[in-house]
Amino acid sequence: MSTIKTYEIIMVPDPVLRETAQAITRVDDAIRKQMDRMLQTMYDAPGIGLAANQVNLLNRVLVMDLSKREEETAPAEPIFMANPEIIWESEEMSVMEEGCLSIPRQYADIERPAQVRVKYLDYHNKEAELTADGLLSHCVQHEIDHLNGVLFVDYLSRLKRNMMLKKVEKLKKHQEM
Ligand code: NI
Repeated sequence: MSTIKTYEIIMVPDPVLRETAQAITRVDDAIRKQMDRMLQTMYDAPGIGLAANQVNLLNRVLVMDLSKREEETAPAEPIFMANPEIIWESEEMSVMEEGCLSIPRQYADIERPAQVRVKYLDYHNKEAELTADGLLSHCVQHEIDHLNGVLFVDYLSRLKRNMMLKKVEKLKKHQEM
């Protein structure tokens, strides 16, 4: 059992999900504490990525971990990013099914650049780069979108987007999510 306090995950249509998060100055103890709490919140959900907007914080921080997708007991491989910036993207595109903890139980095929390179500050405030492919590439692009107030449903037609958002409203009413 973890003793790390978790956050409440914010769901659509909360306006904080439409805000642009602000860059941080440096990764200090307070940001590390936020990263730890975000990671635990994400594991509990469970999910593979979480951005600060989704826990009602408007700084440019995100966490990801793809290691537990198939086996919950697999060793953790958390990735922490502050001020992530896409510095290169492939021309090749990739389509994968995406979901979002802020839009529960809705999934759609989303097309994005197949590979991206991301520059960021890591858990120790060191400049780092990650070249991502496949699911990790979709995940990091999805989380950076969150920091810019963009949701995966924004890539869908208005009709499809509204249908999904209405379904979430219904879910919330019936289950007090
Ligand atoms: Ni999301």
